[in-house]
Amino acid sequence: METIYAILLAILVILSSIYYFREFLIGLLHMSRHRREALPVQSDQVGNPVGTCGKKVLTVYFSWGGNTRKTAFRVHDLAGGDIAEIRVARTYPDDYKGTTNRAQEEKIQRQRPDLQPFAAVPADYDILLLGYPLWWGTVPMAVRTFLESHHLDGKVICPFATSGGGTMEDSVEDLRLSAPEADVQDGQMLNRLCHLKPWLKRNGLLL
Ligand SMILES: Cc1cc2nc3c(=O)[nH]c(=O)nc-3n(C[C@H](O)[C@H](O)[C@H](O)COP(=O)(O)O)c2cc1C
Repeated sequence: METIYAILLAILVILSSIYYFREFLIGLLHMSRHRREALPVQSDQVGNPVGTCGKKVLTVYFSWGGNTRKTAFRVHDLAGGDIAEIRVARTYPDDYKGTTNRAQEEKIQRQRPDLQPFAAVPADYDILLLGYPLWWGTVPMAVRTFLESHHLDGKVICPFATSGGGTMEDSVEDLRLSAPEADVQDGQMLNRLCHLKPWLKRNGLLL
């Protein structure tokens, strides 16, 4: 009987550990698989704000490993307008574990990491296409710093994300908390680029 209890306890411990670390494990698998396809640092492109839809469009993104950057530039290629990156003042470590640790601490402590000066003035645009990687089930805190430090009243924000397999509903709720005056649309996960054109068309950004 004692053996059965011991086995059940061991199974419980293993299942709890998998549950607790699931996002980390998913992310780790994802990074090792996809980082080779990531896009290295790119220059911002501002000064040509009118997008394919005729309105002023800004693709604004945060990326650590380059996956979201690559997706953001695909978005920008199709939607037109300007593109600029959200960059933290104190850069994250190069290693995955160091970055996940810091990101977790920032999330738990509800920090707002300082940012480098941003290349565009978001208030000058009609629509922001906002891209980010899913971090610990939500949006990286640097994106919340960005939203909270610009005037976004009445702006339409269309969020998109990349992830290791997690979904982005919770992250969109967090965006809404940080930009209550903006019209934050439901998000689109863009791990697979086949979703890109339909998403842009649904939002009137591509004819
Ligand atoms: C700090 C950190 C936390 C992550 N948390 C999650 C997560 O909660 N869920 C998930 O599916 N993927 C998670 N990932 C994986 C990333 O979302 C995924 O690899 C993303 O494509 C990375 O984008 P990037 O290359 O633009 O940084 C995490 C990655 C990092 C570095």
